[in-house]
Amino acid sequence: MKDIVILGIESSCDETSAAVVVNGRKVLSNIINSQINIHTTYGGVVPEIASRCHIEVINQVVKEAIKQAELKLEDIDVISCTYGPGLVGALLVGVSYAKGLSYALNKPLVGVNHIAGHIAANYITYPDLEPPFLCLIISGGHTHLVKITDYTNFEILGRTKDDAIGESYDKVARVIGLGYPGGPKIDKLAYEGIANIELPKAKVEGLNFSFSGIKTAVMNLYHKNPEIDKANLCASFEKVTTDMLLDKVIKAVEETKIEKIVLAGGVSANTYIRKQFQELGNKGNVKIYYPELKLCTDNAAMIAAAAYYDYREGQISKLNLNAVPNLKLGG
Ligand code: KG4
Ligand code: ZN
Repeated sequence: MKDIVILGIESSCDETSAAVVVNGRKVLSNIINSQINIHTTYGGVVPEIASRCHIEVINQVVKEAIKQAELKLEDIDVISCTYGPGLVGALLVGVSYAKGLSYALNKPLVGVNHIAGHIAANYITYPDLEPPFLCLIISGGHTHLVKITDYTNFEILGRTKDDAIGESYDKVARVIGLGYPGGPKIDKLAYEGIANIELPKAKVEGLNFSFSGIKTAVMNLYHKNPEIDKANLCASFEKVTTDMLLDKVIKAVEETKIEKIVLAGGVSANTYIRKQFQELGNKGNVKIYYPELKLCTDNAAMIAAAAYYDYREGQISKLNLNAVPNLKLGG
């Protein structure tokens, strides 16, 4: 079969990224322009600024991706972009750019669900990984436990009832003065601490999650005692949130009898979470997968990887594709 070369474009939040991926697995380039330094000044992502930054750099980022792949634009078979979920203005930049390119080059357009992209990051890291598997998507905007029956079929088994896990990491980090983005800062500081502070573990029905209770508990502890050891607080927060994830994943394995567990999303870059899941895998009953670090957070290679499977299924977008800020997985 002929190789399918896909250009991916990602602009759903604060990273402008373009990548060239062959057959959903082989990355020829993956350029990521992060706006983190700009948003740090404001303590979080400012949507209007994000859109403007995407517009300023997208052309250069795409050009660089093609150049690093040592290809010409005409060598691209499919143009893909994230069309949701995400910030509407930010998404529109990537969607409009991809539509323009698709029209100009007369190549098919594939709009990709950002969450499906996070899952597909694992196909790049593990060239032999195939469905079925269970996927725990833990990011700044999402916390989902999903059964992936085949490449384009997702059954949501559980989700957060309130905050996404990454959101709770970012809020805790901000309140205790670590700054933005919080997840990596908590990861680093927790490494120096001991998990010796008692925090509430949410009891949620089924395979669902909740992170707002523990987030508030950490914030209250800190407000009552600003002298509290922050490293220990971070380590305890990480331990309890990880235990919540592990409990539900173990339950899902029991219920589904699927023993392949795949982590995805920005929070799967967390050192402690990766280690604890690896330990679960080392016990021998389940096999654990997580993307290489660069592919955990937002990037376009994962979008091009997901687009490959949509394209194979004939899921081609029309030129009236629009940004869908609250797009759900599977529809
Ligand atoms: O997947 P992502 O880049 O964007 C969304 O789709 O939401 O995830 C960003 C989230 C942020 O909440 C960030 O704090 C978190 O991932 N994150 C981490 C780590 N690296 C990124 N959280 C914990 N530990 C990390 N090392
Ligand atoms: Zn993401």
